[in-house]
Amino acid sequence: MNPVNTKPYKLPDDATWLITGCSSGIGRALATLIASKPGHRLIATARNPADLSYLPDDNSGNILKLPLDVTSRDSVDAAFASAAEHFGAGFHLDVVVNNAGYSLSGDTEAATEEEAHLEMETLFFGTARITTRALEAMRPSPSSGRGGVIFNISSLAGLCGFPGHAYYHAAKYAVEGFSESVAREVHPDWNSDASLDNTLHVNNPAALLNAQERRCVCLNVCIVEPSGVKTNFEGHSKARIRPHPAYAAPDMPARRLETYVNMGIQSGVGMMRPAAVAEALYLAASRGERVPLRLPLGATAWKMGTAKFESLLRDFEAVKDVSGMGEQL
Ligand SMILES: NC(=O)c1ccc[n+]([C@@H]2O[C@H](COP(=O)([O-])OP(=O)(O)OC[C@H]3O[C@@H](n4cnc5c(N)ncnc54)[C@H](OP(=O)(O)O)[C@@H]3O)[C@@H](O)[C@H]2O)c1
Repeated sequence: MNPVNTKPYKLPDDATWLITGCSSGIGRALATLIASKPGHRLIATARNPADLSYLPDDNSGNILKLPLDVTSRDSVDAAFASAAEHFGAGFHLDVVVNNAGYSLSGDTEAATEEEAHLEMETLFFGTARITTRALEAMRPSPSSGRGGVIFNISSLAGLCGFPGHAYYHAAKYAVEGFSESVAREVHPDWNSDASLDNTLHVNNPAALLNAQERRCVCLNVCIVEPSGVKTNFEGHSKARIRPHPAYAAPDMPARRLETYVNMGIQSGVGMMRPAAVAEALYLAASRGERVPLRLPLGATAWKMGTAKFESLLRDFEAVKDVSGMGEQL
């Protein structure tokens, strides 16, 4: 298996960030945080740029507000072209955050083709569209790329499947598989830690400096898996499938989960602040260490993710004889 994100990443002092879905929630919290960092450049995007008025109008030109609908290739192309034009020669992207999204909830049997496709288009193809553009901009090259970090906001829902959200889970699982494959697909020379063994450079400061500089030229993909965050997600960003009569009884799994989730949202217990999620992303990019391939965020995500993989191991063990098909595993 190709190793991923093997090299410590050093966030440049003048890092340029591009974030999708900055009108509210996690995107807004992260855009606010990056806008407050001296020297950093921010490309904040939203379907409706008027929703970005909370950001200062920055005379230094370090904050750029752009329209971007992740479901539209034309919109993505236009945003990347505007950013390149605004920042001019030497434009590079250091951190890209695929955050835009909404959840399609309800009885899977009743979902229309259009509802299912729009969910996949937004969460998965939107992420794929921006990721491939980001790779192009970040890939080490003499003219442009200097490496970077692509944060793809998945969810605990990208690790565990719960009833009544099949297309949301399908899209987040797709983000996970796509991101992991892309992370393994980049050339190992773009992300090798061979030169970072400082002991090799102890008597050769120039070589050490060179190695440290090379820390920037690495391409990292990080799949972010938050559990509940106190945003508008359950209101503003929830599309509901027409209820299916076969699933209406209050003891159906999806109805029971709805009750449980609503109680959790009302109490706020275990829910994270969007600003805390923003801080965690900034820390993962800026702490000068290896960027993790997966970043569960919140105790619920960590515990439920761990339980999921432990149960997967038990399930694998239970079918070992069948899987081996007569061979010793
Ligand atoms: N909140 C949670 O509990 C939670 C947990 C795990 C993961 N997440 C993930 O976190 C991400 C952000 O969600 P949030 O909780 O911050 O919710 P939110 O406050 O509702 O924000 C969602 C953002 O996505 C934008 N968006 C939706 N469709 C878009 C499109 N086609 N093009 C561009 N932007 C689009 C929305 O813009 P508009 O204002 O134009 O609609 C909004 O800015 C989502 O990917 C979500 O799946 C959330």
